[in-house]
Amino acid sequence: MEQQKIAFIGAGNMSRSIISGLVTQHYPGSLIMAANPSQDKLDKLQQDFGILTTNNNDEAVAWADIVVLAVKPQIMAKVCQDITNDALADKLFITIAAGILSERYQAYFNHPIRLVRCMPNTPSLLGLGMSGLYAGSAINQDDRAISEQIIRSVGEILWVDEETHIDTVIACSGSSPAYFFLFMEYMQQSAVSMGLSGEEARLLIQQSALGAAQMVRHNNHLELSELRKQVTSKGGTTHAAIETFKQQKLDETVDKAMKNAVERAQEMASQF
Ligand SMILES: NC(=O)c1ccc[n+]([C@@H]2O[C@H](COP(=O)([O-])OP(=O)(O)OC[C@H]3O[C@@H](n4cnc5c(N)ncnc54)[C@H](OP(=O)(O)O)[C@@H]3O)[C@@H](O)[C@H]2O)c1
Repeated sequence: MEQQKIAFIGAGNMSRSIISGLVTQHYPGSLIMAANPSQDKLDKLQQDFGILTTNNNDEAVAWADIVVLAVKPQIMAKVCQDITNDALADKLFITIAAGILSERYQAYFNHPIRLVRCMPNTPSLLGLGMSGLYAGSAINQDDRAISEQIIRSVGEILWVDEETHIDTVIACSGSSPAYFFLFMEYMQQSAVSMGLSGEEARLLIQQSALGAAQMVRHNNHLELSELRKQVTSKGGTTHAAIETFKQQKLDETVDKAMKNAVERAQEMASQF
């Protein structure tokens, strides 16, 4: 694929992760530009990855074939409205901001644009992200391919066919690292109440979580329920714990929590 010029508007944590991923995968730093108000972040990016930098969003947009919008959702409207460029239709836009519907960007730019909406998650900061992608109607095959290449640099991707499914992505992968943290936190509290130190409990739990995730990943042919059954002997210790989760209706709690996350995503989208 022809390598294109990519500009990042906003050079915060998520942009840094994607830039790091791209450069690690040998995308030339000379084809990447970051635009940000504060100079220190730009200097660090320039030093670490050899990319181009600017304090001027217009300059970055004018230079780029692809523009990654990576500012906080609260300032997205102003940032887009302030961009003055006559060639917006020639560019591909990828937004990673949470909660802003595609149609809003057309209004912000007051111009139809080719837009991919992306919902990454925090493990992207380690290159272990999971991102949902949604392509607006004007997106072509090349746009899809380059969007995938960019976002895959921080982890796995999944295209969804309907924009409303981005809210389900938020419930499944955007917010879920925190669900797993909460579960591990409660396990740690219980272990400490039984006499282990916090550090001892954490080591046991974090390594088990990592191992369990790898087992899921390496056994794609097995249903999750099958994996569970394989390590749950009837009458054994795991069985005792699993039965407790079932009696306490963990399934209903999880279902309710995920639907509440979706509902909140819908409420937030209505604010923009
Ligand atoms: N971090 C995550 O795990 C995550 C997950 C999913 C989605 N997202 C989305 O990704 C986007 C970026 O998140 P982040 O975590 O990278 O945030 P961040 O670290 O706060 O980065 C935002 C950057 O935007 C810059 N900025 C502020 N005003 C600007 C302007 N007018 N023009 C250009 N840049 C400007 C900020 O610069 P200064 O610091 O100099 O003000 C900052 O460097 C957000 O929309 C967020 O919803 C993040």
